[in-house]
Amino acid sequence: MEEQLLSLLRQMTLDEKIAQMLQLATPFFKGADDEGMITGPMAQMGVSEQQVQNAGSVLGLSGARQVINIQQAHLNHNRLGIPLLVMSDIVHGFKTIFPVPLAIGCSWDPELAEKSAEIAAREASVSGVHVTYAPMVDLVRDPRWGRVMESTGEDPYLNSLFARAFVRGFQGKNLTEDTDRVAACVKHFAAYGAVEAGRDYNTVDLSERQLREYYLPAYKAALDEGCEMVMTSFNTVDGIPASGNRWLLRKLLREEWGFNGVVISDWGAVKELIPHGVAADEAEAAYKAVRAGVDIEMMTPCYVRHLAKLVENGDVEERLIDEAVLRILRLKQKLGLFENPFRGADPQREREIVFCEAHRAVSRELAAKSCVLLKNDNVLPLSKEQRIALIGPFARSGDILGSWSWQGSQEDAVSLYEGMASKTEASRLLVAEGCGVETRGTEEQRSEALAAAREADVIVLALGEHSGMSGEASCRADIRLPQAQLELIQELKPLNKPTVAVLFNGRPLDLHGLVDEVDAVLEAWFPGSEGGAAVADLLFGEARPSGRLTMSFPYSVGQVPVYYNAYNTGRPHVPDAPDHYVSKYLDIPNEPLFPFGFGLTYTTFEYGEPRLSADEMTEDRPLTVSVRVTNTGPLPGEEVVQLYIRDLAGDVVRPIKELKDFRKISLEPGETAEVAFTISERQLRYYHSDLTYASDAGEFRVYVGPNSRDAAELRFRLTKKREAGDPAWQ
Ligand code: GLC
Repeated sequence: MEEQLLSLLRQMTLDEKIAQMLQLATPFFKGADDEGMITGPMAQMGVSEQQVQNAGSVLGLSGARQVINIQQAHLNHNRLGIPLLVMSDIVHGFKTIFPVPLAIGCSWDPELAEKSAEIAAREASVSGVHVTYAPMVDLVRDPRWGRVMESTGEDPYLNSLFARAFVRGFQGKNLTEDTDRVAACVKHFAAYGAVEAGRDYNTVDLSERQLREYYLPAYKAALDEGCEMVMTSFNTVDGIPASGNRWLLRKLLREEWGFNGVVISDWGAVKELIPHGVAADEAEAAYKAVRAGVDIEMMTPCYVRHLAKLVENGDVEERLIDEAVLRILRLKQKLGLFENPFRGADPQREREIVFCEAHRAVSRELAAKSCVLLKNDNVLPLSKEQRIALIGPFARSGDILGSWSWQGSQEDAVSLYEGMASKTEASRLLVAEGCGVETRGTEEQRSEALAAAREADVIVLALGEHSGMSGEASCRADIRLPQAQLELIQELKPLNKPTVAVLFNGRPLDLHGLVDEVDAVLEAWFPGSEGGAAVADLLFGEARPSGRLTMSFPYSVGQVPVYYNAYNTGRPHVPDAPDHYVSKYLDIPNEPLFPFGFGLTYTTFEYGEPRLSADEMTEDRPLTVSVRVTNTGPLPGEEVVQLYIRDLAGDVVRPIKELKDFRKISLEPGETAEVAFTISERQLRYYHSDLTYASDAGEFRVYVGPNSRDAAELRFRLTKKREAGDPAWQ
């Protein structure tokens, strides 16, 4: 196979090679249903018809018939018959939309996450897609950033588990044989989630140790799982934008990690080296990106307009072009496109399986598992005897798919009203919007809501952000619910009715103005195509809340960034302690409103005293910690037992807690389970000041409990065989 590719490469002209490194978006295709030629506004980009016809790949295209037409037309015009790669953003579902990844993360269920990616891949592949730009595994700590909805949260260990699960689901075990899978593309490399001030595309400036300790593990996990492609991020990494960063893409990604797959830039990120201020013009942008190792330039023409000249002038060795093109051709070969350029595209199967009942059922199950119950003062679950007033802008809204759900349809989404109406008598379910998402309700809307509330035994508020308030380029400096909704809550308050708030939103919010005004809060995020059905299942107790937060809910935006795995500082603030000169605010607490790992259920759990198998560990003698957990409440429930460690004295400062393991258990009322974890020396390793990755002998704490805040503490030591030359104190 490699020999065939090398002989193909030898037949290619330099222009044909460089055209393989160009990716165009669908607008370049005119009349895709007939001749499917790439045309579109290439004149504005100064790209020749010939180069456009030889483009290596296209983004944003799907639909079996359309892809078949375009691929056929492309092959008719491509001298050497090199097929197009068809790529698209399938981040949390294709047409069957699953909850946004931040919600999926809160399920703490990598297996179900993998299932969702497998279904997304199947629907995408029969619709002609070969590669998805997912998983997005950027670690996030700043809810002002709109793209936190696309991440699985603030913990590197959990993000790594989900990264692996998504890659397994998308790619399966054999991309050549299994045409119901697609190649995955881990993004955005690297550390896009650390943009300053939570403002999209902004500067990222982290130490290498921060990068390696927190931000890089999930990308590495995706690649260790066999992810085929990497997408560079818009941001700088230590002063150099990722798409021109040789340390990041060559030294780390290719040499240290051994990645030999395709690297694609994010949309326009090669040309953005100019506004970033590291390239004077397109030619220099092309020069820096190709030397850094970007194989495909997405949607800008620096490569096709300047690389040939750079090679002819001897500024860029043709070898670099050959390496990039060979990686692209290898991916096409691995996908079987030379044998079958239409791969899985199949209009008949497309009609049968896309958005089918079985797929929607999995979306509903995952949505129910992704919701997080944040408060419940004895109002949930509801009973079908109650008269319910469903009030708020999301009562009948289909805008519950969230960002990055291109192929999904809001019209086909199950709204909360539909979900609830299918479970209770119509006469017992009154519904009124009361206001818009960001607009104050009309006089009529508000009086209709008040009237419904007066009639009801219980109010269910359906509130949140519309899907355009999170996602790319959708950052918010004020992360409270929109004012119109806060006013609606105040207007209903005097009725003094038991009230449940269901939130549809793409980020942790500042819940002031809501959390103290209602009796229960269910965080539903953007729950996807079956969202209303899943939330209704939870509200009526036919499913039970089991989600746990994977991103902290700040007390207020002034606290941001706030995350559980932080450092202690030299002057830690102990709540209620009188010390003045310590790390604290004058006006708000240090603790988040709801911490990482937090989530309630419809029952209660009691933890016994955790026990350690020994109080000393060595490299070859791990410890086990076990704890008995009892369901002490009236209903069955799911508990996520979490295990954290703390290294008390490191070579560098160490987080006050680090998640190292967890176990999801289901318990009937009165049932007890014994949960045991193994702690090994490998789990205690970290990047030292000289970037060696190792553990230290010394004192540790281990925490076991229901979340990162309420966990019982145990102590143990790690002792190491004294090696010659070890400093005595180590
Ligand atoms: C966007 C996003 C990236 C996406 C790409 C293609 O700008 O940053 O996540 O995959 O362009 O749509």
